[in-house]
Amino acid sequence: MSNFLSAYSIQTWLESCPQGYLEGTEFGHAPSEKEPDLLFDSEALLEQAIQTTVQLVLGERCALAASSGLINLAPDHESKRFLATQTLDEARHVEIFTQRLYDLGVKKADLESTIDQFANPHLVAFAEVLLEKLDKGDFIAGVVGQNIVLEGMAFSVFEMMHASNTSLNPKFAHTLSGTIADERRHVGFGENRIGSLIKENPEKKPEVEQMQKDMSYHMLATFSRAFSQNTGAYAEGQRLAAERGADPKSSEWHGTNLSTATPEEMEAVLADTVLKEFKTRLGRIGLEYQSPANI
Ligand SMILES: [Fe+2]
Ligand SMILES: [Fe+2]
Repeated sequence: MSNFLSAYSIQTWLESCPQGYLEGTEFGHAPSEKEPDLLFDSEALLEQAIQTTVQLVLGERCALAASSGLINLAPDHESKRFLATQTLDEARHVEIFTQRLYDLGVKKADLESTIDQFANPHLVAFAEVLLEKLDKGDFIAGVVGQNIVLEGMAFSVFEMMHASNTSLNPKFAHTLSGTIADERRHVGFGENRIGSLIKENPEKKPEVEQMQKDMSYHMLATFSRAFSQNTGAYAEGQRLAAERGADPKSSEWHGTNLSTATPEEMEAVLADTVLKEFKTRLGRIGLEYQSPANI
């Protein structure tokens, strides 16, 4: 347990996160960085940015509810302390993405109605599957659902968004890079802590695998809706990026050039990448990935 202890201690968290990669940032980016003008010049792009950010707030609110709920369910104190750091990370993610909505012009009084208006119903269903496990007090399912499935998804989504924003929106790209570093730590905890618990409780496997299957189904439906919605905005974003001489190399992600890819191609590379990660991570903790039914 000693390596586990030091890698996931509050001391390590303090040194690497608030005193490390977040030092000098304001809401996750350099204080001088702003959203780029081009977003405010195009209604389609602005709406797409708001819509996307709403999903990030929703996902992070779910992670906040899940990680805080897991603290009291955890069977050991090292896990409780790690989950306390994770709870603060998730609260920070909720805050920085909410702040981004304000930066994009959403009024504070309109926050909840904007979230309701743009919420992807499949993402809401995805979160419900996980939060139901927490309501039942199921620590093992909760950690797999949160630290492997939800955060495995978030990790790849953030990475893809980071690749497509590096050139034109360094403010958002920097906000994302801090969350990517956080999610990497959360996913690592899930893998390290839960493998032994699954081994000790093999009877839990079918139920946990069913949850993963249900969450994967809702996740793929979330992607499908997200990429079929704003097709005009994707084309507009790519046109503006090309016009402004954005470096196409920076938007290369898992072999797909996001500055020229169609929304279908983007959806395919994201779904492939996330599912591949799920298979690897679930395999490491002794679970077998279950393919969801076709959407
Ligand atoms: Fe998060
Ligand atoms: Fe996380």
